[in-house]
Order: sequence, then structure tokens, then C-alpha cells
Amino acid sequence: MPKPPFDHFKLIAPLYEALTHRMPVEKVRKHLELPTEGWLLDAGGGTGRVAAGLRSEVGGAVVVDYSEGMLRYAGRKPGIRAVRAAAEFLPFAADTFQRIVVVDAFHHFHDQEEAAKELWRVLAPGGRLVIEEPDVTRWLVKLIALMEKILLMRSRFYPPETIARMFRSQGGQVEVLRGDTISAWIIIKK
Ligand SMILES: C[S@@+](CC[C@H](N)C(=O)[O-])C[C@H]1O[C@@H](n2cnc3c(N)ncnc32)[C@H](O)[C@@H]1O
Repeated sequence: MPKPPFDHFKLIAPLYEALTHRMPVEKVRKHLELPTEGWLLDAGGGTGRVAAGLRSEVGGAVVVDYSEGMLRYAGRKPGIRAVRAAAEFLPFAADTFQRIVVVDAFHHFHDQEEAAKELWRVLAPGGRLVIEEPDVTRWLVKLIALMEKILLMRSRFYPPETIARMFRSQGGQVEVLRGDTISAWIIIKK
């Protein structure tokens, strides 16, 4: 794995775990069309709060993240396998996962085109990949993007349609959904 940039998440991991220990997963569950007997990959899954909420509805759950600090909490959650890796270099065979989820992490990936290729590679035929991303076409998210720049976080927010194109170009059937929150959902079928 190439050396990641400075790991801001190592610093905030304890706070992140304390404040967001679990998240409501109803929407993710719906978009992922759970349950499934196949395996779930939570890429950029951090402390594992999303995977923990979905664990009972999948055959197995893996959280991949490059931040040791974040991943430490994921590894403590029952039924979660925590793997330290970058989304751009996933240590799994092609077609491994029936479901993949990426929540609030895609804009942190250093090389998002490469991560999109890797996510597509490890997604099994017939599988679903769901990406929840702050929608940078909204002014509040533009402000968040600016704050993250000031904090030198190296995040880069692409509009949901640009992310959708990264998967359409690989043959995915892609839908972009917007609701009443600042997030957009990019739903990809292989
Ligand atoms: C805002 S947190 C979201 C964590 C989790 N998805 C959640 O919703 O709780 C973003 C996560 O992406 C991880 N991350 C950033 N770049 C990554 C990369 N290239 N590969 C894997 N994980 C990465 C960070 O370490 C961090 O844990």
C-alpha cells in the first residue's frame, strides 16, 4: 500500500466513534436491497458504524480503511473483519462482494478514478454498489469542501453525475438519487 497522506482520521477517530457510534442504516439497507447471503464490503468504512448496522443482513462484512486509528474501532465490533488497505488497491479477488457500500468517504479517496476501477473489479456480477456522498452542487457542501481544504484534508468532491460516469464507463447501470438531505446516492448495478 502506498504511504497515505497525513492521517487526519487517526486524530479524530475517538471522537468520531463516540459521536457516531451507530448510524441509522435504513436508507443504505434499502438502496443495497438487503438481505443477501453474499458478502458486504464497506470501503472507507472507518470505525465500522455502517457495516455494524448491516452485519445481520449479509453473509459476512469487511471494512476496508487505511486509517489505523479508525479501523481499530471497526475491528472491535462483532462480526466485522477489519482490513487496512487503500480503496485504490483492494486486496481481494475480482467478483468477491455481492454488496459494496461507501458512505461519506469517496471524496477522501486520493485517486477516485482508480478506486472506482477497484470497487467495480471486486463487485460480483449481479451485485450492487451504493455510494453516499455529500452533494457538492449544494452550497452547504461547497462550504464543507472549503473547510476541508483549509484543514489540508486533500479531499476532492466531485458532483454525483461525475461519479456516476466513472461507473457507467465500466459498464455499470447507474442511478443518481437526491433527497431532502445534503447527500446524494449513486446506485450502481453490475
Ligand atoms: C468521513 S470517514 C467515513 C467513515 C465511514 N464510511 C462512516 O460513514 O462512518 C472517511 C473515511 O475514509 C477513509 N479513507 C480516506 N481515504 C481512503 C483511501 N484511499 N482508502 C481507504 N480509506 C480511505 C478515512 O480513513 C476515513 O475513515
